[in-house]
Amino acid sequence: MPAYEPYLKSGELEDLVAYLKAISGLQFPEDERSAEGMQLAYELGCFRCHGPMGSGGVANPGSLKGYVPGFWGPDYAELVENDEELRQWITDGVSRRLGEHPIASRIIAGQALKMPAYGAFLEEQEIESLMIAVKWLAEGKWRSMKVP
Ligand code: HEC
Repeated sequence: MPAYEPYLKSGELEDLVAYLKAISGLQFPEDERSAEGMQLAYELGCFRCHGPMGSGGVANPGSLKGYVPGFWGPDYAELVENDEELRQWITDGVSRRLGEHPIASRIIAGQALKMPAYGAFLEEQEIESLMIAVKWLAEGKWRSMKVP
């Protein structure tokens, strides 16, 4: 195994470790509600579009960014301003703010991959668990958790 440390810029090693943790799928929240939400996110296939642990990056021609955004970082902050918007994305497949925006709504309607509207298929408790899990991912504490 080559020793890469001398070749990586500061911060790159941490990013690489976080990425490996993400794709390993071994990082799980401790509290029950977010663990339930993570389980549901795996079952519903959220990470197939949003990337491992919501790291983003799956190509999406015709979309706002060119890829499906992740659950953290600047894209997430731009697209999800608060809990209400997070809920709208999950239940309606779009936030009211962007859905009613004349330009953004046309782009969102025309993109190759579309965010499914899960509202009709989930119980209120499941929607809340998903929201808690997405927020747990967005907070990023899992990046510094030990690999089990
Ligand atoms: C078929 C692919 C697909 C699946 C499956 C999917 N999404 Fe999405 N999601 C999208 C697309 C596309 C967008 C819109 C991005 C845009 O407008 O640029 C989006 C947007 C979002 C957003 C707001 C933007 C952001 O930063 O992520 C959230 C939150 C979200 N999805 C959560 C979920 C959750 C939770 C699940 C699983 C229950 C899920 N998504 C499943 C494709 C998907």
